[in-house]
Amino acid sequence: MKYDFDTVINRKNMGSVKWDAIEKELGPGSDDILALSVADMEFKVAPEITGAIKKKADLAVYGYTGPTDSYFAAVIGWMQRRHHWNIKKEWISPSAGVVPALFSAIRAFTHSGDKVIIQSPVYYPFGRAVIQNGCQIVHNNLLYEDGRYTMDFDDLETKLQDPRVRVLILCSPHNPISRVWTEEELLRLGELCLEHRVLVISDEIHADFVYKPHQHTVFASLSPEFQDNSMTLTAPSKTFNLAGLQCSNIIIPNPKLKAQFDIASQNVGFSSLNHFAYVACEAAYREGEAWLNELLGHLEENKNLVQSFMAENLPQIKVVETEGTYLLWLDCRSLKLNDHELERLMKEKGRIFLDEGYLFGPEGSGFERLNIACPRSVLVKALTNMKRAIDSIS
Ligand SMILES: Cc1ncc(COP(=O)(O)O)c(C=O)c1O
Repeated sequence: MKYDFDTVINRKNMGSVKWDAIEKELGPGSDDILALSVADMEFKVAPEITGAIKKKADLAVYGYTGPTDSYFAAVIGWMQRRHHWNIKKEWISPSAGVVPALFSAIRAFTHSGDKVIIQSPVYYPFGRAVIQNGCQIVHNNLLYEDGRYTMDFDDLETKLQDPRVRVLILCSPHNPISRVWTEEELLRLGELCLEHRVLVISDEIHADFVYKPHQHTVFASLSPEFQDNSMTLTAPSKTFNLAGLQCSNIIIPNPKLKAQFDIASQNVGFSSLNHFAYVACEAAYREGEAWLNELLGHLEENKNLVQSFMAENLPQIKVVETEGTYLLWLDCRSLKLNDHELERLMKEKGRIFLDEGYLFGPEGSGFERLNIACPRSVLVKALTNMKRAIDSIS
C-alpha cells in the first residue's frame, strides 16, 4: 500500500461540520463520540493534490482565477477514462458545489408552482432545492422489497402525466440507499421522461464509488436524446475528499439548457471558483487515480467488515446491499424503536453520530446511514459501540 488510510486524524474543534455537530448538539463532555455521519472522508487527500496546492500557495498571488484549458482537459480526460463519456469543453460549467448547482438548475428550468419529482428516501437537499425555489415536490418513492430498492416505474408514469411536472432529480448512484442504477433502469426512466418532456437532473457525485460487479452508467451517455434532455452534476469533492474546497463540474451538452443554467448561476452572483478549487480538481483528475484505486480497495474491505460484523454480532440489523457510495444503509426496524429512540440509542448509549434515516424522508424512518470512509480502527470501535448499545436494550 502506497497511501495511508489508517492514521486517525483529529478534526474536532476545527470547524468540521461533521465533528463539530457533536458538541453543538450534546455539549461539552462528548469527546469520546465518533462521527460517521456527513459524507466526507477521514483521510488525508492524495499527496499529489496537496503538492499541487502547496505549489500554488507558494506563488502567493491569489487574484481572480478562471478555469484554464488544462483544467477543462483534465475534467474531460476523467470522464473519458473513468466513465467512458466523451464530453466537450463547451458543455462544462464549473460550480462551487453540486448543491448550489441544483438550486440554480431548479430556478433555471421551472417557474414558481411547477413540480419536481424526487425519489425518496434521498439526499435531503433535493427536496430543499425544490421547496426553497417555490416549486412543489412530487414523490416517486423507491420500492423496498426483500432487502432491495428499485424504482417504482408505474408510479413514475402516473406522476409524469401531470403537466406541471417539469424536472426529475435523479440520484445516481443513489444516496442513501447505495443502489447503482442499471442501464436498463436508466433507459426506462429516461424514455419516460422524454415522452413526458421532463428534464432529468442527474446528480452523479458518487459515480466514482462503485463496487464490482456493479458499473456506473452516466445517464446522458445512453443516447443523444438523453444527452439533450439532461444535465449531469459531477465533482471531485466526494471522490478525493475536497468538499471544503467547493468545486464541481456541471455538464450540459444542450446549448440552450446550458445558457439557461449559466444565467441562473450568474443571477445569484456566481462568476468563478476559488483559486485552489481549480488546482485541486485538476491535480485530482490528472494524478489522483492511483490513490483512488487504493481507496476503493480500502472501502470495499470496510464494507465487507460491516457486513460480516452485523451477520455475526447484530443479525437484527440488516445491511442493505451496498452497490456504490461509501454510505451504508442499515435497516434497524426490527429494534422496534421510534426515530427519536433510535437516534438517542446511537448517540447517547452508542456514542456514535450517524445520519438518521428519517432525514432522507419518512421512508427512511427506522434506518441509519453509516459512513465507512474512515480508518478501520475507527470503524471497528463504532461497530463495537453500536453492539454494546443494542445489547443494552435487548
Ligand atoms: C447526492 C449528493 N449530491 C450532492 C452532495 C454535495 O455536493 P456539494 O458538496 O458539491 O454541494 C452530496 C453530499 O453528500 C450528495 O450525497
